[in-house]
Amino acid sequence: MKSSSRREFAKSALLTGTVGALNPLRVIGANERINVALIGCGDRGTAIWKKFLLNQDVNPVAVCDVYEKFLTRAAATAPGLKTFRDFRQVIERKDIDAVVIATPDHWHAIPTILACNSMKDVYVEKPLSLTVAEGRQMLSAARQHGRVVQTGSQQRSGPHYQKAIRIIQDGVIGPVHKISAGFTRNAMPGFKPVELGAEKPADLDWEMWLGPAPYVPYDPFRCIYHFRWFWNYSGGQMTNWGAHNLDIARWLLKAKGPRAVTSFGGRYELKDGGQTPDVQEIIYQFDDCLVTWSGREVNRLRDEYLVFHGTKGSLSIMRDGYTVSPEIWRGLKNRNTIPEMEAMEEKGDPRQMEDLHIRNFLDCVKSRQRPNADIEDGHLTATMCHLGNIATRLGRTLRWDTEKEQFIGDREANSLLTYRYRKPWDRYQPGD
Ligand SMILES: NC(=O)c1ccc[n+]([C@@H]2O[C@H](COP(=O)([O-])OP(=O)(O)OC[C@H]3O[C@@H](n4cnc5c(N)ncnc54)[C@H](O)[C@@H]3O)[C@@H](O)[C@H]2O)c1
Repeated sequence: MKSSSRREFAKSALLTGTVGALNPLRVIGANERINVALIGCGDRGTAIWKKFLLNQDVNPVAVCDVYEKFLTRAAATAPGLKTFRDFRQVIERKDIDAVVIATPDHWHAIPTILACNSMKDVYVEKPLSLTVAEGRQMLSAARQHGRVVQTGSQQRSGPHYQKAIRIIQDGVIGPVHKISAGFTRNAMPGFKPVELGAEKPADLDWEMWLGPAPYVPYDPFRCIYHFRWFWNYSGGQMTNWGAHNLDIARWLLKAKGPRAVTSFGGRYELKDGGQTPDVQEIIYQFDDCLVTWSGREVNRLRDEYLVFHGTKGSLSIMRDGYTVSPEIWRGLKNRNTIPEMEAMEEKGDPRQMEDLHIRNFLDCVKSRQRPNADIEDGHLTATMCHLGNIATRLGRTLRWDTEKEQFIGDREANSLLTYRYRKPWDRYQPGD
C-alpha cells in the first residue's frame, strides 16, 4: 500500500467506526503475510493453529507452552518455528503481528492485555475471561490500542447461525419471549487425568501453569483439559458451553446483559474431585425475554442445546444445522389447526464455521474492521456466564446493572466479580 493510501485508510478507519488507530508498527497490505504466534499448544490450540496454517497469508513464527511435550508437538507443525516457554517473550517480539491464545481460561486475560499493549492483534479462545473484571480490562486494552480481538466463539461466523438470526429477526417464528439454552451429557462416573501422572513431569512448569491463580501443589487433575472443573481456572460447562450457546441468545436479543439472574445447582453426583456443578438450572431475565440454562453432566436423555421459542414456531439450532417447527393450535375454540408457518431446515458445517471464523479474523487484521466475535461480545457473553455461576454459588436471585457491571445492592456477589492475583502477576490485577 502506498503511504498516501495508508493515510486515507487510517483516516476512514477512524471515521467509519472500524477498529480505530492502526498499528503504528506495521500496516499489513491485502497481499502481505501476517506473522502469527501460538500461545497454548494443547488440543484446542494445536487444532486451530493447523487451521491458521492453511491460510496462504499466515506466516507462522513462534509457538509457546509451559508443557514441553505439547510445545515440541506444536513446533513440528511448520518449518523454522521458534519455541518459547514464557509468553511474555513472544509478545515482546517486534516480528509478530498477531497471537492466537488457547491457554486455560485463567490465562486468557494477561496475555491478551499485554499483546494489545504491544500493538498485536489477538485471536483468543472462549470463554473470554475468568472474571467480569478481567473481561472489562481486556476490552479496555483492545479499544485503547485499536486492536482487532476475535473471541473463539466460532458460531458467529457460521452461515446457518447468521441465517437463523436473520429469520428470527424478520419475525418468521413470531415474537420470541423465551430462549432455552443448555448443555447436557452423561459423564458418569466422572473424569480422571489422562495426559499427566501422579508425579509432576519434569517438562511441565507448574508454577507458570498456575500463573495468577492461588498456589496449590501439583495436581494432574487440575491441569490439562480438566482445569474446566475448578473455579480458580474456569467455570465448568456454564462457561465452556455457555460461551457458545448463550452467545447466540445474546446475539439475537442485542442486549448487553440480563437485568436479573437466579440459579440453583451443585456437583451432586460426580465424586471425581472437581468443583463445578453437574446439575445447574439458571434463569436470566432480559427486558421482555427469559433465557434459561440447563446444565447436566449426569444425564443426557436428549441434547438440550438452544431453542428460540416464538409465538408461531420454534427454531432449534446447533453446529450441524437448525430446524424450525411450526406451532399448531390445539384445543382452542375458534382456532384452526393449520400451522402458523412452514417447517424449515438448514444444514450447518462445524468445520467450515471454524475456517470462516479464522479467515474473518485474518481479514480484519488487514481491514481493521471489527471481527464477527469482537471482544466486546466475548466480554458480555462471558459476563452472562459468570453471572449464572455466581447466582448458583450464592443460591439466590441477583439484580444486575449492565452499565456499571455491578450487582445491585449485593456486596458478597460483587466480591465474586474478581479475585486476587498471585505474585508476581498481581501487577496486572484488574481494577488496580
Ligand atoms: N472454540 C471452541 O470450540 C473451543 C474448543 C475447545 C477448547 N476451547 C478453549 O480453548 C482453551 C484451551 O482448551 P484446551 O482443551 O486446549 O486445554 P488444554 O489444557 O488441553 O491446553 C491448554 C494448553 O495451554 C498451556 N498453558 C497453560 N498455561 C500457559 C501459559 N502461561 N503459557 C503458555 N501455555 C500455557 C497448557 O500447558 C496446555 O498445553 C480453553 O479456554 C477452552 O475453553 C475452545
